[in-house]
Amino acid sequence: MSTAVDRELAERLDAAGQSHLVRALEALDGDSRATLGAQLRELDLDLIGRLIDRFVIESGEPPVEGAIEPGDAIPLAQGRAGHVEAQLAREAGDRLVAEGKVALVLLAGGQGTRLGFAGPKGEFPFAPVTGRTLFDHLTAKVAAIRARHGAHLPLYVLTSPVNDDETRRDFRERGYFGLDPATVRFVVQGTLPAVDLDSGRILLEAPDRLALSPDGHGGLLPALRRSGALDQMAGEGVETIFTFQVDNPLVRVAKPELLGHHVLAGADMSSVVVRKRWPGERMGVVARVGGRTAVVEYSDLPDALAEQRDADGELVFWGGSIAVHAIQRAFVERLTAGPAGDGTGLPFHRAVKRVPHVGPDGVLVQPDAPNAVKFETFLFDALPLAERTATVEAARAEEFSPVKNAAGDDSPESARRDPNRLYAGWLEAAGVHVAHAEDGEPVDLEIDPRLADDADTLAERIPQGLAIDGPTALGPDGEPITFR
Ligand code: UTP
Repeated sequence: MSTAVDRELAERLDAAGQSHLVRALEALDGDSRATLGAQLRELDLDLIGRLIDRFVIESGEPPVEGAIEPGDAIPLAQGRAGHVEAQLAREAGDRLVAEGKVALVLLAGGQGTRLGFAGPKGEFPFAPVTGRTLFDHLTAKVAAIRARHGAHLPLYVLTSPVNDDETRRDFRERGYFGLDPATVRFVVQGTLPAVDLDSGRILLEAPDRLALSPDGHGGLLPALRRSGALDQMAGEGVETIFTFQVDNPLVRVAKPELLGHHVLAGADMSSVVVRKRWPGERMGVVARVGGRTAVVEYSDLPDALAEQRDADGELVFWGGSIAVHAIQRAFVERLTAGPAGDGTGLPFHRAVKRVPHVGPDGVLVQPDAPNAVKFETFLFDALPLAERTATVEAARAEEFSPVKNAAGDDSPESARRDPNRLYAGWLEAAGVHVAHAEDGEPVDLEIDPRLADDADTLAERIPQGLAIDGPTALGPDGEPITFR
């Protein structure tokens, strides 16, 4: 017979309608009981109770409140060379980086369920010639910008408890991909328990472990506060945080146009958008909701609005968010000023998922249909809380080709094709012959971001007399590695 469980904890769980967890504790002893007990004491049962009332008992996302109106993105036409404001913005953005006022945040938490890759998404070997990983490629972009500006530009990597150990191990074993380890910092996002879809009971993934999942990319904000990263940034003179996602190899890290428009507008939070390809594309759009800037998810945008076109036949709600943001550190401090740093004011969302769990008889259940609700906050939900925002259009073909799904759109296949086309265009513009296959697609190409991350730089640095007849990776000094 095991000893009594912590009375105070048991009472709190009973009051929260989670008595099955008291029984689960009673069935354990020794280390197992201590493990589960520690997890249970960490839970914010008040918050979880509110989430269950809202999303399980009432079930469903609240509707978007307020009229949805088009966003006010600065179109690409105004971002091209020769445009005076664009030039000023680029210079302001570059200055901000050079002055050491920017920190980079790479969002690399979450679970990567759709891609189905075992391990952190950042370790996915997306590159078609060398099999280089996303972490390797994106950190090379960071190195390139640091070198160009001679700037400190610290890199914070957001991980989740699911992939934190493995991510740190990968960085360590690969020598931080050539970055100074002191400038690469890991921040772990929080978790929330998954609950049963019908009863709202918190699920166990093992007899002594809760089924916890990452709290969404909005979890970045409290995690920056909790981890001390915000204070560290303040101490280093960082004013603006540039966030980007691990699954987009084409991302323009520290995009000067975004940073520049952001500071010139005195914005709290700003975003990059690309043109949606079709009305129903599964992309959130940056719009105005009730007079404030917001990302409206594709599922919340009424068809009539999604399909609306202007006199030129262009979509009125065209600005698809690619989850690249500039955020003022002071704004994050304001949002996380609550006692535990959790009072971000970001709304929660629900996701209905399949979650393996321990059944009442103690046996692990592998559900074949969605059985659980997970709770998440989204970073873009900070936009309506900002006093001022800026939104900047980027060329999709140049800056966005994410690896989200195992196949089809936004998959390893498209994230191979799109950079191939982009790099072939850069090379051909620089006068280099590039071989194409019979279907018209160029051969597989890689360009190390430290060699060039745009057409003009490549044209300046490309080795003389280069011709590309087969799959080729150009290294940081332009040396071609050809595979036939
Ligand atoms: P996604 O929304 O695509 O989620 O993340 P995911 O976890 O990678 O994949 P799915 O939905 O399970 O298939 C977009 C970006 O936000 C980060 C991811 O690492 C990715 O860069 N992210 C997502 C977090 O950092 N934390 C989260 O809780 C969720």
